[in-house]
Amino acid sequence: MSILAVTHLSLTLQDQHILKNISLSVEEGDVVGLIGPNGSGKTTLFNVLSGFLVPTHGSVHFRGQDITGFSPSKRAHMGIGRVFQNFGIFREMTLEENVLVALEALPAEQRKALGNLKEVVQGTLEMVGLSGHAKKKAGSLSGGQMRLLEIARTLKSGKELFLLDEPTAGVAPKMTHQVGDLISELKRDRKTVLIIEHDLPFISRVCDRVIVLNVGEVVLDGKPSEVKQHRKLQEIYFGADPTS
Ligand SMILES: Nc1ncnc2c1ncn2[C@@H]1O[C@H](COP(=O)(O)OP(=O)(O)O)[C@@H](O)[C@H]1O
Ligand SMILES: [Mg+2]
Repeated sequence: MSILAVTHLSLTLQDQHILKNISLSVEEGDVVGLIGPNGSGKTTLFNVLSGFLVPTHGSVHFRGQDITGFSPSKRAHMGIGRVFQNFGIFREMTLEENVLVALEALPAEQRKALGNLKEVVQGTLEMVGLSGHAKKKAGSLSGGQMRLLEIARTLKSGKELFLLDEPTAGVAPKMTHQVGDLISELKRDRKTVLIIEHDLPFISRVCDRVIVLNVGEVVLDGKPSEVKQHRKLQEIYFGADPTS
């Protein structure tokens, strides 16, 4: 059974057909890239998957259960995690405290399974290259560092399916590989990841599969190597080299 199944999903907002008859399914443990030009509906699709928008038609199933009408918080409890830009960071707390708060919110069983929380906090900060800032207030970080902290926290939140919307946006190029490392770690743990990114080389590196949206429709769905070479991808980007 797929962990996520979207069936004939459409969304119309103010007479605009934003998502059109989208069907896709994602297997547990897969890392799937979602790409497409600006305005193609990627973030809107995430809003529907996380429960912030109700589709006009169609359904969303999570582990076989119809969750189309479920609230965002109910979906979060079920294991769907979404990373928001700099949302949920406590700026007056240190980085250590920020990660610890996320771990302490885990169900007791999951928390115990992690072992020594201090070590987990340290390891999490190391993974995103922020261990040198552990005692600093989160508010003193750069935008990109805060983004890494937010991603690291969400990835430690015990979720099963992660929705990452442009996780490398605002992150210094030399630090984007840390986002890639975090995703690889999730994959090792058999977590499932849906990731919106403009950076095709990054997508090719971390994803098993790529789905291309254009004007609210799924136009390609396949292995990164296949999608990258596809004539349609070139057409969508109006002849621009999508790898640049
Ligand atoms: N709340 C809304 N009301 C009306 N139109 C919206 C709303 N949210 C997004 N849109 C429109 O939906 C389309 C897709 O937007 P979006 O999902 O943000 O695209 P992407 O993330 O692929 O860049 C755009 O044309 C945008 O203007
Ligand atoms: Mg977007």
